[in-house]
Parts: sequence; C-alpha cells; structure tokens
Amino acid sequence: MKPTIEPVAWNNGSLRLLDQTRLPQEEAYLDVDDYRDVATAIRKLRVRGAPLIGIAAAYGLVLAARAANAGSVDELLPLLRTAAEELAATRPTAVNLRWALEQVLAAAQGAATPQEAQERLLAAAQRLHREDAAASERIGRYGAGLLTPGSAVLTHCNTGSLAAGGIGTALGVIRTAWADGKLSRVYVTETRPLLQGSRLTMWELARDGIPATLIADGAAGLLMRRGQITAVIVGADRIAANGDVANKVGTYPLAVLARENGVRFYVAAPTSTIDLSTVSGEDIPIEERPAGEVTAFAGRSVAPDGVEVANPAFDVTPHRCVTAIVTENGVAAEPYLDSLARASRAGVAARG
Ligand code: MRU
Repeated sequence: MKPTIEPVAWNNGSLRLLDQTRLPQEEAYLDVDDYRDVATAIRKLRVRGAPLIGIAAAYGLVLAARAANAGSVDELLPLLRTAAEELAATRPTAVNLRWALEQVLAAAQGAATPQEAQERLLAAAQRLHREDAAASERIGRYGAGLLTPGSAVLTHCNTGSLAAGGIGTALGVIRTAWADGKLSRVYVTETRPLLQGSRLTMWELARDGIPATLIADGAAGLLMRRGQITAVIVGADRIAANGDVANKVGTYPLAVLARENGVRFYVAAPTSTIDLSTVSGEDIPIEERPAGEVTAFAGRSVAPDGVEVANPAFDVTPHRCVTAIVTENGVAAEPYLDSLARASRAGVAARG
C-alpha cells in the first residue's frame, strides 16, 4: 500500500517537513537546513507522532553534521552528541526519538573522515525511514487479521502517514482492514486539546475515502455502551516491558470504557516504541505542555485569564486493559513481559 503523503522528505541536502499545525486548512511545507529548526518543528508539533519525530530527528543529525564543518571525525562526534541531546530533549515521552538518534549516531562511529560520517548518517536515516514504512505495512497486516468483517473501530489521535514512515500504525491497520473489506466504519475522537483526530486523522481518512465519523472525546462511552464499536485501536509513544502503554492523553479513559463494555482494545506500534528498560508505566516520563493549548481554541481564549491548568500530553494505560499489542513482528499478548521481549528481540535480529 503506497502512502500518498510525505510529511518528512530528504530533498537535495535539506529536510522538507509538512507543517501539521496548518492542517487541514493548508498543505504547507517547510524547508529546513538547520538541525535546531528540526528541534523547534518537533517541539511545536509541526512534525509529530512517535515514529515520525524519530525519523525527522535522524535527518536532523545529518543536517548537524553538514553544518559542523569539522576537520576530523574526533571533532565531529562531540558536536553530533550535543545536537542529538538537543533533539532528544524536545519531547520526553516518545522513546522512538531517542532510539532513532542512537541508531543514527552509531552509524557515524568508525567513519574515517567527516565526509564519510555524513554519508553514513544519511544512509542510516534513510534506512530507518524505509524500515519504519515497512514496519507499518506489517503491523497493518497483523492488525487487520484480528478484525472480523463488518467491524466498526474507534481510534484516537493520529497514527497515520502523518505520524510514521509509511501507512501508519493504528491507521495502517485501519487502512489494511478497509482494503480487505473488513471495516464498516471508523469513529475518530477529536483528541483535545490539539485536535489531532479531527484535523489530521479525518483529513487522512477523507483522502482515502474510508467512511469515518468524528466524535467529541466524551462521546466514546455512549457509543461503546450502545454496541456501536467492535474494537478500539490506538498507537503508542512508549510501551514499558510489562505492557503498560503511554499514548495521547485520553487513551486511558478509552481503555477503561472498552473494558467496562467488553470492547477489544488494541495497541499498534513498531518495536522501536517498546522500551524494555522501562519496567512499568510508572517510569514513563509524561510530557507537560503549555497551558495556552488548553485555555485557547483556534486563537480564542476559552477560559478566564490566569486559571490554573494541567496539560499532560500523554497518559498511561495499564496492560490489564490492553487486549493485544500489534507489532511488525507479530501480535503480543499477556504475559507481556515475555511476548514483548520476544517481539523486540526479533526486531533487533532483523535489523542485524
Ligand atoms: O502529541 P502527538 O501528536 O505527537 O501524539 C501522537 C500520539 O500520541 C500517537 O498516538 C503516537 O505517537 C503514535 S503515532 C504512530
């Protein structure tokens, strides 16, 4: 399946980013040749979604190497490490970001010249990009296999081509299930406060002609109670070794509602989202974002001035609420400690 959107593209020595903050009104691209601008784009959610920020950051390191003008590899490597730290600090929850930077940095080690290091970095970033797209395809296949014909699925946030290297994770499953004739409809939560569901997922589904219904976040319970939802399928920003899942804030309430109403709750993510060094969800750092994202809507204030705000960008769903986790290496289920370790090991073996 070929994705029709290219939100991150290496383009003759600079990085082209689709500015997602301007969707759906405008399809505007930014050409970036300074890694600091990549960091800003990630922080401001112009580029977003766990796998995609890893890919963008990997290309960011290529830009850092090109700008460094280093006389030797020994001079270049510390500069790259500083750039990698800066990029990694932009968003703390998605483990894909750090993972991708480590992969690309490792490729630069052992280069004989700064020129060779640059070439290796670019090759590594492009490989990572390609492999993530391939992972989405496989996730789509495994995930669609879990759905029965006539399924109506509910998804949260955006996990599509705007969030990953290819067709996407949870949205990749939805696309594949639609192509297989298994899907009757997709329900999409708007995903307050930044509306990734209404702005981005609805945009992607409309382009693909997949029947989709937008709902307010708070409407999910009623739909599940009425029996309108066969399964919930979401992405992840970090999956702990025990199967606890950090994803866009609002995911946990959906999982609890699904459990209460006997609806299956699936998580779709590449193995680069699994962090075996994080024991449980308690240890996952949760990004806190600016108050203005909650107190203003489309540039208009929707709360009295000076109110106190909490704006966690993610929440953690305990593994007991998760029916299965779909990865590119197969479907993991309880006990997650074993099944996720197996899926991760298969990923490392495949990457070589
Ligand atoms: O804050 P965002 O828009 O980057 O959050 C994105 C999500 O929570 C996605 O569900 C997750 O990154 C998986 S994307 C394939």
